[in-house]
Amino acid sequence: MIWVDTIAELRKIVSGWRREGLTIGLVPTMGYFHEGHLSLMRHAKAENDRVVVSLFVNPTQFGPNEDLDRYPRDHARDRSLAEGVGVDLIFAPLPGEMYPEGFQTWVEVTGLTQGLCGKSRPGHFRGVTTVVTKLMMLVGPDRAYFGEKDAQQLRVVRRMVRDLNIPVEVRPVPLVREADGLAMSSRNVYLSPEERQAALILSKALFAMRDRVQAGETDVHSLREGMESMIKAEPLVQLEYLEFVDDETLEIVERVERPVLVALAAKVGRTRLIDNLVVGRL
Ligand code: PAF
Repeated sequence: MIWVDTIAELRKIVSGWRREGLTIGLVPTMGYFHEGHLSLMRHAKAENDRVVVSLFVNPTQFGPNEDLDRYPRDHARDRSLAEGVGVDLIFAPLPGEMYPEGFQTWVEVTGLTQGLCGKSRPGHFRGVTTVVTKLMMLVGPDRAYFGEKDAQQLRVVRRMVRDLNIPVEVRPVPLVREADGLAMSSRNVYLSPEERQAALILSKALFAMRDRVQAGETDVHSLREGMESMIKAEPLVQLEYLEFVDDETLEIVERVERPVLVALAAKVGRTRLIDNLVVGRL
């Protein structure tokens, strides 16, 4: 596996692969890999001749009071995990390589970024779409892989790729959960044992809601109330948002009559977690 930290080295290697007619899969990450990341890499490996993983804690997608400085990092562990699933190249630039002095160009998706995480994290998606565009332009992948855990991010990136005619196929990969239901996240390491236990209420509430939908309930008001009362009973968990939105447009819905994304964010102690499920798929 090759490890590079400059754009020049990255470009040289991927253009060589391209000349050989090889297909390339890109997996953008912020590192500190867990099974969710490895699943993205395995999907990329199965569908492409070469897999490039970017490992970059992107400062422009963090707000001033967020966890940029304490975001978990472990390059040695990441290197061996990526190697284990057959990744061909890791691109791990320093911030100055991606955002040199004088940087002032941004890529912004408007409508889809207004609600859900966009509401509480202003500027977050602008940072994501800018760095993802740069990575796509640097690597020129045939396919790029995004987890369904970051449901809004996936839809925003898809929209951006369509709107800007970026020649890449965006491939969604299912969310990976721990055996007890907790959605995998690099931020789970922040949780104390008590907080980790409390965090289980998020997936439990989502699963209970899904059971009710499967039993025929379509009223969002009632489904939301059911979830809220479960989550409120857990004192270590503070719900930030819980929304029922159209799976594609992310517009609020009143009934589950077509695919609906049920997305939530919550603080568990100081740690912000997100989770989601899509219900109402035929
Ligand atoms: O999902 C993430 O880890 C990040 O938002 C991404 C897509 C790597 C961009 O920094």
